[in-house]
Amino acid sequence: MFVDDEPALRGLMAERLTERGFEVVEAENGEKALELLEQFAFDIVITDLRMPGIDGARVIQSAKERYPGIVAMVITGYGTVKDAVEAIKRGADDFIAKPFQFDELMHVLQKAREQQRLTSELKHVQAQLEEKYQFGGIVGRSRPMKELVQQLETVARSSSTILVTGETGTGKEVVARSIHYNSPRRANRFVTLNCSAIPETLLEAELFGHVRGAFTGAVGTRQGRFEQAHKGTLFLDEVGTMSVGLQMKLLRALQEREFERVGDNQTIKVDVRVIAATNSDLARMVAEGSFREDLYYRLNVIPIELPPLRDRPDDIPPLVKHFLEKFSPDTEMHLSQDAIRRLMAYGWPGNVRQLENAIERAVALSGGRPEITTADLPPEIQAVPQSIATPFVEFPEDGLDMPGYLASIERDLIHRALDRTQGNRNRAADLLRIKRTTLVEKLKRIGADS
Ligand SMILES: Nc1ncnc2c1ncn2[C@@H]1O[C@H](COP(=O)(O)OP(=O)(O)OP(=O)(O)O)[C@@H](O)[C@H]1O
Ligand SMILES: [Mg+2]
Repeated sequence: MFVDDEPALRGLMAERLTERGFEVVEAENGEKALELLEQFAFDIVITDLRMPGIDGARVIQSAKERYPGIVAMVITGYGTVKDAVEAIKRGADDFIAKPFQFDELMHVLQKAREQQRLTSELKHVQAQLEEKYQFGGIVGRSRPMKELVQQLETVARSSSTILVTGETGTGKEVVARSIHYNSPRRANRFVTLNCSAIPETLLEAELFGHVRGAFTGAVGTRQGRFEQAHKGTLFLDEVGTMSVGLQMKLLRALQEREFERVGDNQTIKVDVRVIAATNSDLARMVAEGSFREDLYYRLNVIPIELPPLRDRPDDIPPLVKHFLEKFSPDTEMHLSQDAIRRLMAYGWPGNVRQLENAIERAVALSGGRPEITTADLPPEIQAVPQSIATPFVEFPEDGLDMPGYLASIERDLIHRALDRTQGNRNRAADLLRIKRTTLVEKLKRIGADS
């Protein structure tokens, strides 16, 4: 939007901006500008400062109030610094003094737009990261998960070593990341190392780094993960698979916060918070002698145990919703009653990861239908025997009116029984396994409140 009370300048600028690919709307005064601002979300507003009636500063102010991301430019006719300063105070991104060349205007404009693009991109990335790793991003409303999140809030503040245990797919890595992104260390790196994915011979160098020629293939000097995580968090996944020899070295690094790169004797000191994870029973490994007891206690300063999914079925509906949104972001999808009942009854040996895979597969198989049915689920879940046919009821956070809800189910069943028997009350009562007199009584009550 180009606002100026001088028709000649306004027309000329509009024309030239149009040549450069802008879509220009002209306003001949401040009043008109405010009116247009009500109607369109402009990307850019360029306005003269001194105008009779509503002046440019007011235009800028309402533009910024309504569209905080808008690029606002001021043209100062009198070249007074004071006017320009006032406009900037009211939110203008930049100003240009009359008389000016069109190219000068283009230059300031492009600068402001670039700035705007960077700011909005940065905000977007930050928001995404923060949202993803807020404790709120850990989906789950079961009692064990709520208690867990509470515990995480407390431990995130400290720098103590944490040991996260739980079966495969329960969310150990999700939890480790959330701790980091909610801790005072979040501005620094979250470095992960999966101890089982790296050959034993290379693991030490991965952890502590190496110098040139330390071993065959060590062509240069490299930082290890401990160094990369300086002032941040190091996530040691599958820590139970580490050899006893390396356990010794890890113990020292944890105790002294210092170590040497492989092939070097210079000591390096770091400030790192360590979160370790394992799905093996470390206590048992200690008893069997395959895991060092001292290292176990060093790692297990704060134990966090993730319960298997089968012990927290209340988390299944919100997780399903979360994964449906993830795999079908554009179309809203849901599960049939029978499908959700089967998910609730299944044992989930692969926990949340297995559930995630099942939903991804079902979304793919549903071929655009909004409802996922039992047939879309993996065979092992379809095979779950259905003994209790209790309907699945969404149970809101703040509870629900149980008597009212039960009454509505009763009403529905009675209507359906009567429909099926063409209104024959004797046969309907038989179908519902109640006495005729009970049915009549219930019908009276239904009649009364419906
Ligand atoms: N509470 C949760 N909310 C949302 N997503 C979750 C949750 N728990 C797990 N997930 C998802 O489930 C998958 C498995 O989680 P994660 O990798 O953290 O499990 P894990 O315990 O580290 O498994 P493994 O022992 O096999 O390494 C991931 O895709 C993760 O995003
Ligand atoms: Mg993992």
